[in-house]
Amino acid sequence: MFGKRGNSGSGIGRQPPSGGGTLERSPPPAAARAPEPARTPTMPSPPIAPAASLPPVEDRQRSSSFYETKSQVFGALIEAIDLSQLAKLDAQSAREEIRDIVNEIITIKNIVMSIAEQEDLLEDICNDVLGYGPLEPLLARDDIADIMVNGPNTVYIEVSGKISKTGVRFRDGAQLMNICQRIVSQVGRRVDESSPICDARLPDGSRVNVIAPPLAIDGAALTIRKFKKDKLTLEQLVKYGSISPEGAEILKIIGRVRCNVVVSGGTGSGKTTLLNCLTRYIDSDERIITCEDAAELQLQQPHVVRLETRPPNLEGEGRVTMTDLVKNCLRMRPERIIVGEVRGPEVFDLLQAMNTGHDGSMGTIHANSPRECLSRMESMIAMGGYSLPAKTVREIIVGSVDVIVQAARLRDGSRRITHVTEVLGLEGDTPITQDLFVYEMLGEDEHGKIVGRHRSTGIGRPKFWDRARYYGEDKRLAAALDAAEVGEPMR
Ligand SMILES: Nc1ncnc2c1ncn2[C@@H]1O[C@H](COP(=O)(O)OP(=O)(O)OP(=O)(O)O)[C@@H](O)[C@H]1O
Ligand SMILES: [Mg+2]
Repeated sequence: MFGKRGNSGSGIGRQPPSGGGTLERSPPPAAARAPEPARTPTMPSPPIAPAASLPPVEDRQRSSSFYETKSQVFGALIEAIDLSQLAKLDAQSAREEIRDIVNEIITIKNIVMSIAEQEDLLEDICNDVLGYGPLEPLLARDDIADIMVNGPNTVYIEVSGKISKTGVRFRDGAQLMNICQRIVSQVGRRVDESSPICDARLPDGSRVNVIAPPLAIDGAALTIRKFKKDKLTLEQLVKYGSISPEGAEILKIIGRVRCNVVVSGGTGSGKTTLLNCLTRYIDSDERIITCEDAAELQLQQPHVVRLETRPPNLEGEGRVTMTDLVKNCLRMRPERIIVGEVRGPEVFDLLQAMNTGHDGSMGTIHANSPRECLSRMESMIAMGGYSLPAKTVREIIVGSVDVIVQAARLRDGSRRITHVTEVLGLEGDTPITQDLFVYEMLGEDEHGKIVGRHRSTGIGRPKFWDRARYYGEDKRLAAALDAAEVGEPMR
């Protein structure tokens, strides 16, 4: 076997193989377990077929012989390598170590492949041993927003708002489950038949959800929202046509003058991104407390306390909910409270905070229009079991929320801010709102891209006018509303 190898110096090769290791894999094929001659300096080089360039990893359709060869090489590698020693190396050295041993195996087993195929195999094996297997090339790409694995043979990605299928495949359901397990174990959780639903996070901050069989009928479904280190700014949103320059100006003022804001939108419409943008206009001397399920926000201010909810542990204990966090916030002398995503009864505590001197608090809610956002808040309060008359609930909502900013992902994949809407009050039992700024769809161009424009609705004096004046922003606000009256069509 590949005993301690003189050429590496790190001594991770082992003899005899101790089995186990960090990966649960199917046993290596018999051929891989058979004793191999020790490598000598005179060992012939592996037979190499002519190099051919391969398509990007995520688009490669591998043949079954690729997987057979890989399984053969992988089995021999696991026999030859001491995984606990490997874990002590940095990623680069570990890769080099694996490269050396894989090359030896290919030589000894007389496996015929081109240099490109050999590199492909090596990359795949390194990804399996050191990372998240077939997901690695997708995780390495900055342009991907979401990775959606629907069982071992189907992986979709979202790039620039468009969802497309990739050629990425897992060897089988067991490999996929193994990778899911590895991801969730990093945050001290477990996913299996008895606890098949799990939220987790990758070390880089990417948000992960796993739902395993038998709940996921066609194999484990793994969804990853990739963490963007460089969050989009309002200037970039203007550049992408998500909002007009005047609209962005209005949003900056709304952030500055301490309006209570709810960002509303569907899944992946850009709510968190928008909330993050708005927080940039908070003064640097304010004390801000953020509450999130998985920390995504990146506030620039120095005086920030970041809080995160906690799922129950394996014994089902120790859960800390968003309501617990928001309630606790109120005892921490916050000036603003920012809730990453309001999903349930915590809305009541956030509204109370908005109502009791914590102006400028913000949160996001899953809803498809400002109106729906208001009714969602009502039903979330009802979920909390508060026995308040409907009118009182509405009074609390309209008395607390100043502005709803609506985000949407349109059918061509583009993301737009479709409404900046003020909440005015109640008329009878009905909440009254007024749009300050809207996105109008005008049609489609020849490539199916939606053409539309942002425009002000002509409201000269929004309800938060006095607030803007108090903060010395009234002239800028008037100018922005004026200039926004007829926006340029954009695509
Ligand atoms: N206006 C935009 N233009 C282009 N890309 C955007 C825009 N807004 C957000 N994105 C990108 O879309 C992806 C989803 O954004 P984000 O996480 O803000 O959405 P979300 O509505 O909070 O999603 P979820 O409902 O899953 O919480 C991210 O990769 C983000 O960078
Ligand atoms: Mg979000």
